[in-house]
Amino acid sequence: MVKICCIGAGYVGGPTMAVIALKCPSVEVVVVDISVPRITAWNSDQLPIYEPGLEDVVKQCRGRNLFFSTDVEQHVFEADIIFVSVNTPTKTRGLGAGKAADLTYWESAARMIADVVKSDKIVVEKSTVPVKTAEAIEKILTHNSKGINFQILSNPEFLAEGTAIQDLLKPDRVLIGGRETPEGQKAIQVLKDVYAQWVPEDRIITTNLWSAELSKLAANAFLAQRISSVNAMSALCEATGADVSQVSHAVGKDTRIGPKFLNASVGFGGSCFQKDILNLVYICECNGLTEVANYWKQVIDINDYQKNRFVNRVVSSMFNTVSGKKIAILGFAFKKDTGDTRETPAIDVCKGLLGDKARLSIYDPQVSEDQIQRDLTMKKFDWDHPLHLQPTSPTSVKQVSVVWDAYEATKDAHGVCILTEWDEFKTLDYQRIYNNMQKPAFVFDGRNIVNVDKLREIGFIVYSIGKPLDPWLKDMPAVA
Ligand SMILES: NC(=O)c1ccc[n+]([C@@H]2O[C@H](COP(=O)([O-])OP(=O)(O)OC[C@H]3O[C@@H](n4cnc5c(N)ncnc54)[C@H](O)[C@@H]3O)[C@@H](O)[C@H]2O)c1
Repeated sequence: MVKICCIGAGYVGGPTMAVIALKCPSVEVVVVDISVPRITAWNSDQLPIYEPGLEDVVKQCRGRNLFFSTDVEQHVFEADIIFVSVNTPTKTRGLGAGKAADLTYWESAARMIADVVKSDKIVVEKSTVPVKTAEAIEKILTHNSKGINFQILSNPEFLAEGTAIQDLLKPDRVLIGGRETPEGQKAIQVLKDVYAQWVPEDRIITTNLWSAELSKLAANAFLAQRISSVNAMSALCEATGADVSQVSHAVGKDTRIGPKFLNASVGFGGSCFQKDILNLVYICECNGLTEVANYWKQVIDINDYQKNRFVNRVVSSMFNTVSGKKIAILGFAFKKDTGDTRETPAIDVCKGLLGDKARLSIYDPQVSEDQIQRDLTMKKFDWDHPLHLQPTSPTSVKQVSVVWDAYEATKDAHGVCILTEWDEFKTLDYQRIYNNMQKPAFVFDGRNIVNVDKLREIGFIVYSIGKPLDPWLKDMPAVA
C-alpha cells in the first residue's frame, strides 16, 4: 500500500488529502500538523475549516484510509510520498520584507524530513513557493541525506476556497513538475498514477520544476489582474454613468476573454493573491526586471485603491463623517461559502471606517467574533503563521460588536456595507431593515448583489460599485 503523509493540515492540505483518500482507497493518507487544536478539530465533528462538501468526504474516509495526527515525525518516517503544504507567509523583516516569501516553515519541514527518514522519498511541494525553492529544498535534503535519495516534485494547488471539493474532484488541470532525469521522471510517474485514479490523463500536465513553480504564481497573478482590471473600469463607470455589469457582460462575450472573474467588487482578498503577486514582484526585482515588477505591482495598488475608494464613498455620502454612527457590516469572509478571512477586504474597510470613528456591528454567517477581533487588531501579514504562533490580541476593538443576525446588525444603523456576497444577503427583508434604521438610510453594496431599484423604491440611498450613481451621491465630493 502506498503511504502518503502531508505536512500541514490547513485549507489546502486537509481538503486535498481528503479527496486523494476518497479517490484512492488503496492509498493510506495521513495529514500531520504541529497545531494540536487543528488536528483535534480534524478528528472531531467540527472541522477546522468550512468548505461545502468537505465534511461528507472526510466522514467517508476518516479512520479508513485518511488519518489526522500530530505525530509528524513518525508518519514522515513511514511515508513513500511526503507532501509539504505549510504556510509560506510574506516576510515582515529583513531582506525582501513586505514582498519575499518567508520560507521558515518550509525549511524547518525539510530539515525535519532529512533528520527522520531512513529510506528514499518523494517530496512534493504543495505550498505556493518562489521559483527555485525546489532547488533550495533539494540542497537541504541532499546535504543531510545520509545516502538517501530524495526526488523533489512541484505540484502546486489550484483549488479555490468555497469550491475546493468540486475543484479537487474535477480539476481543470493537475500540474506536476520534476527533474528531467530518469529518477525525476520516475517520481513524476508515481504521483501521476495517484491522480490518474480520477483525473483524466490529458488534464495531468508535466513540466520541469521551475515551470511548475512559476505557473502557480502566474495563474494567481492573471486571476487577480482580471479583478483589478474590472475594478479599475468600475471607477470609470461611476465617473461616466456607464454600468460595470453591462460592460463586463459585453467584454466577457468575447470568447478570447470569457465571462468568468469579471465581477466588480470592493476588492480581492484571500490568502494567496496578494502574497503571491508580492512574491512575483520580488522575484522580478531580484532578476533586474523593474518594468515587469512594476506592472504586476499595479494589480495590488488598484486593489488597495478600490478598498480606499469604497471607504471614501461611505464617509463622503454620510455628510463627510461617520463619527459615532452605527454602520452595519454584512459579511466579513473574503468571499462567500468560506469562513476564511485572510486578507479579506472587510479588514481594510472596517479599519478605514474605524479610523473615522464609526461604530461597527458586524455579521457574517461563518466568521466568529474572536476571529474578527483578531483580524482587526493583528499586524499586516501576521495572519499567515501557524495559529499557535500568531500574537494573541490583548484588547478587542471596543467600537466593534459582532452579532449573529443581519437584522440585529442593521437595527438603528445609519448605513449598511455589504462586503461578502453571501446568498442570504440577496433575500433579506430590506423593507424591515429600512424601517429599523436611522434616516436617511444608506446601503453600500461592495459586491453588487442587491436589487438597486427595489431598494431605492423602499427609500434607501444606494451605492453599488461601478453602477450609475444615486442622485444623492452625485453631488458628493469625488473619490479616493
Ligand atoms: N488557501 C488556498 O486557497 C491555497 C490555494 C493554493 C495554494 N495555497 C498555498 O498552500 C500553502 C498552504 O496554504 P493553506 O491555506 O493551507 O495554509 P494554512 O495556514 O491553512 O495551513 C498551513 C498549516 O501548516 C502547518 N505547519 C506549519 N509549519 C509546519 C511544520 N513545520 N510541521 C507541521 N505543520 C506545519 C500550520 O500549523 C498550518 O495548519 C501556502 O503556501 C498557500 O500559499 C493555498
